[in-house]
Amino acid sequence: MLVILLFGPPGSGKGTQACEIVGLTKITAISTGDLLRGEMKAGTELGRKAQDIMNAGGLVPDELVNAMLVSRISRSDCRDGFLLDGYPRTVEQARYLDRVLARMGMPSPIVIHIDVPPEVVVGRITARRQCPVCNRIYNALYQPPKVEGVCDFDDGRLFTRKDDNEVTVRERMKNYETITNPVLDHYRNANYHRVDGTRAPEVVFEEVAGVLQGEMAYTPE
Ligand code: AP5
Repeated sequence: MLVILLFGPPGSGKGTQACEIVGLTKITAISTGDLLRGEMKAGTELGRKAQDIMNAGGLVPDELVNAMLVSRISRSDCRDGFLLDGYPRTVEQARYLDRVLARMGMPSPIVIHIDVPPEVVVGRITARRQCPVCNRIYNALYQPPKVEGVCDFDDGRLFTRKDDNEVTVRERMKNYETITNPVLDHYRNANYHRVDGTRAPEVVFEEVAGVLQGEMAYTPE
């Protein structure tokens, strides 16, 4: 059973690596950002509360995100473990997750920190495109789809996230530095792995896969 936390600033490649990790481990990947965007799209009360905060680059309050998270990881597809992309993002969320994992009889998490300096992420994020069907991530500059604007894997019309503009990205970076980065202290004595995220996605994944194969004695086909 595996619990993996993908940690890193906006645009570090968490979602990109999550897709590859799912292929390797077959566990369920959960992005709290995607869950919140789903709530917004569905027009739920949570979505309405989160909308303005997300569009401004702020963090959605802990109690809302914690409740959403626990409801998601209680589903049957998480019984054998799961990957969290973008959670925990505050020290309070990390403490909450410790309690939930203990209560569920889940193992301590493997923390993968994709480290990328701020100057790299703005360019990456403003060129990001995402598929609304499978959530696969592209980049208009570095990782374009085969046909412009269309997902390679289904017919999803790629979209640009509302919070992917320079002003909002800078606000998200500020929140990452001041509120989220201190979460790493919480995992100082944990199963922590720092990965240099400035390299090509496949090179980053090679290192991540090495870590995970070591953890689960995974044998590639
Ligand atoms: P969320 O959706 O989680 O956004 P984020 O953390 O800001 O991260 P991103 O999705 O922007 O980037 P990523 O690291 O996944 O990079 P990606 O792989 O896409 O959260 C959005 C908002 O929701 C938050 O601001 C907050 O308001 C709210 N929220 C979410 N979780 C919350 C929580 N726990 N608590 C409170 N609020 C919460 O890659 C980015 C681009 O770079 C892509 O175009 C990709 O193709 C490209 N790329 C990826 N890797 C590489 C590489 N190695 N080299 C070159 N290009 C690359």
